[in-house]
Amino acid sequence: MSILKVARLGHPVLRALAEAIPLEEIESAVVQKLIDDMVETMREYEGVGLAAPQVHESKQIIVVEMQAHPRHLNITGIPLTILINPTITSLSLEIEEDWEGCLSINDLRGKVPRSRRVSVKGYDRKGKEVKLDIENFFARVVQHEVDHLLGKIFLDRMSDFSTLTHLSEYNRYWNVG
Ligand code: NI
Repeated sequence: MSILKVARLGHPVLRALAEAIPLEEIESAVVQKLIDDMVETMREYEGVGLAAPQVHESKQIIVVEMQAHPRHLNITGIPLTILINPTITSLSLEIEEDWEGCLSINDLRGKVPRSRRVSVKGYDRKGKEVKLDIENFFARVVQHEVDHLLGKIFLDRMSDFSTLTHLSEYNRYWNVG
């Protein structure tokens, strides 16, 4: 496995529409290695999600994972989830605003409105169809990562930039608890 270079804001790959993976290619060595490398890269940089365009591959793959935090027992972890060709099939009208960051926009945090619940369908790394009904932080991360496949970043989804904050100031003033 390899740690991949992360594309940063301004790289055109982050603004392109990612290509679907043909189903017969999901189990190919190339796609499997890309998935493994994406998981390793996400863990190395302590992200909770990563989309293939963020590692310069304009393909419809996202990986999501969050360890349960020992000091934040109210936040449940997210099991390692790999979605190929994901589509959000329903979005709740209930919107919540919460903080987001992005490995491609390091050092910034901002509050982003997102649907509290979503349904998403796609394929797992074995090519098996999956459908997830998810809520709260898991739903937020999936919306953020699916946006990357559409060439969107979290800044595009902010209602305004009044909460845009450098990471050190976020940790100092806003990351309470
Ligand atoms: Ni991101």
